[in-house]
Amino acid sequence: MFEQIQPFYTVHSLHCSLVLDCRGSAEGIKNGPAILYWGVRLAAGTSPEMLALMATRQEAQACMPEEAPIALSPELGAGFQGNAGIQVHREGGQWASYSRIESVTEDGNGSLTIISICPATQIKVTHRLALDQQSDMLTATTELTNIGDRTLWVDQCNAPSIPVPMHYSKILGFAGRWGNEFQRQPVDRFMGTYLRENRSGRTSHDSFPGVILHTEQTNENVGAAYGLHLGWSGNHQVRVEEQFVGRAYAQMGELFFPGELSLEANESYCSPTLYGVSTENGLSALSQCFHRYIRSTLRDFPRTEKPRPVHFNTWEAMYFDLSLERLCTLADQAAAVGAERFVLDDGWFNNRRSDSAGLGDWFVDETIFPQGLSPLIDHVQAKGMEFGLWVEPEMVNPDSDLYRAHPDWILSAKTGLGDAPLLLARNQLVLDLTRSEVQDYLFDCIDGLLSQYSISYLKWDMNRALSQPGGTNQPGGAKGRAVTHYQTLALYRLLARIRQAHPTVEIESCASGGGRADFGILAHTDRIWTSDTNDALDRLRIQNGFSLFFPAELMGAHVGPKDCHITGRSIAMATRAGVAMFGHMGIEANLLTMEESDKTELKAAVELHKQHRQLIHGGDLVRLESAHNENSFGVISTDRQEALFSYALLDSHRNSAPGRLRFCGLDPEAQYNINIVWPLQPSSISTSILDVINGAVISGDALTNFGVQLPIMLPQSLLIFYLQKR
Ligand code: GLA
Repeated sequence: MFEQIQPFYTVHSLHCSLVLDCRGSAEGIKNGPAILYWGVRLAAGTSPEMLALMATRQEAQACMPEEAPIALSPELGAGFQGNAGIQVHREGGQWASYSRIESVTEDGNGSLTIISICPATQIKVTHRLALDQQSDMLTATTELTNIGDRTLWVDQCNAPSIPVPMHYSKILGFAGRWGNEFQRQPVDRFMGTYLRENRSGRTSHDSFPGVILHTEQTNENVGAAYGLHLGWSGNHQVRVEEQFVGRAYAQMGELFFPGELSLEANESYCSPTLYGVSTENGLSALSQCFHRYIRSTLRDFPRTEKPRPVHFNTWEAMYFDLSLERLCTLADQAAAVGAERFVLDDGWFNNRRSDSAGLGDWFVDETIFPQGLSPLIDHVQAKGMEFGLWVEPEMVNPDSDLYRAHPDWILSAKTGLGDAPLLLARNQLVLDLTRSEVQDYLFDCIDGLLSQYSISYLKWDMNRALSQPGGTNQPGGAKGRAVTHYQTLALYRLLARIRQAHPTVEIESCASGGGRADFGILAHTDRIWTSDTNDALDRLRIQNGFSLFFPAELMGAHVGPKDCHITGRSIAMATRAGVAMFGHMGIEANLLTMEESDKTELKAAVELHKQHRQLIHGGDLVRLESAHNENSFGVISTDRQEALFSYALLDSHRNSAPGRLRFCGLDPEAQYNINIVWPLQPSSISTSILDVINGAVISGDALTNFGVQLPIMLPQSLLIFYLQKR
């Protein structure tokens, strides 16, 4: 028997409300639980009945007489003409799911659990939705359970669908590539389906699992928007569909290869978590909500109060050409410019003299380190720095002892029936982490290193896509079955096991740069390597996209060599350092060949970063509306006592002289002391604002509504303003 279900359930957070329509438990085709409203907190006098009344739709010509609702999981059995949230079958039959709500539970703290049963397909569906009380973050999952006796084949089981208001006519999606991640890709919503799919087996460089839906008027500082993100590090799909009947919805979920997922009797599958922000106040406010949630809830960082140490990373300084002596000299130089952690990148383990050999053999190469890593670590620590180490545990080179001993431990498309050739990428293959012996081998190697040496940080890399993700011992027994889902879970398990054994070791998520940045991996890691490019200009754009979802303290940002190794562009130290200091700052350049003047400037930048680190890593980010040849943003302390603003000129000024920079997010009533703190000696072609502004006291109102005249600047240069309340 179904319990008495109320027609509506409403939960509130500080600024938002969510109203669930559960009338489908009683009324014909309106079967599923559906979001009736998600947005700004409803006034006390607004009832769900009012909203439902106002949402009354009519039969349109040549349409179904009764519209199937955009339920949390819209259903084929209900006649839904879009993408059904759950798509299952049993050998081709029992596909027309049509569920009835069985129970709804409220925890009184913003969470709702709705259980529905479909007798036709014999599935139980559990939707869990919650509004985080402080940050207003919506979290939502769909869990599917096979309540029949026979195998249930699952083609899709997406996180709950989000109805999109029709006036949110703009879609801000993301594109990118290696060395150029998190690129905004705006499109106008159109009748039909906007679909981004990722089959790379990691979060991907090109299809970040996030989308922002907003109105025509929305910009960084005003206007309504929904921000949606799927916290998952494997394959995914992001869908926004405008149906011809005049409705739109967004849906995200895992993407399965044919036959990848099946459930035996009583087995369950839970979708990745969908994270959602609804705001009326522009894209910066939307980002602040994501940042607040990560800071307060998602981040599982053992020592959140500890400042993020400034890194020195050996990669672009030494690549594979390692020697103990040069590493120690580099460590001396790194400490001298203010680094607080020395990270030994690729090349330290057996036979790893290039990227063609060694992956899998996680043992210190004694030809480089005859006494192991201790002499280097002792040296680094004697200089007052922590020590970090690069690893890429999921991978193996065919030229490795591991592969020679266990050639069967890899993922492939092998079935023994005229197989596709094995595809190498960066000369490597992917280990099948779902095998317990692989998990144990990797755990033992990493646990061994972390137990033997004083290592406080792992840079966990992953340098190729899972292009042939066939497993070797799949649940269900089928050899060669697609395994990305289980591989992703196995990775999370391995990381969790390492963290449990070594709770104070921090882990960075890297996948050839920013190929694995999502809220799923963040539950197990503490920093993201944003991109392999250290080109400061490209970085400004990459960091801008990244900042929509992630806060600065997670954003690995390094000062690279003067001539960028990836783009070849030559950029002054003041700009390189000024860009890197707004993330989790690091240095990744050869200090042994760096000019003394650059080193002096770098040291000053590191000092400035440390001075303002708490603000950068804990404040509210505001991106300012900028012309295409500019990039500007600020970080304001939550009490609005102080702020840093960065203005960068990427290309020449359009006019002979530029206009004024208008700040935002400040307290309009307060008086602020204004100073340009970077570069150390900013200059312009003639007497300018630079000569009069430092030390001035200006109201927050004037800084916001009038703005500060910019000096005439060279392209590829920037200014950093520090504002402090009087
Ligand atoms: C990847 C990473 C780089 C570096 C190299 C080492 O490309 O993104 O930062 O660690 O691997 O091989």
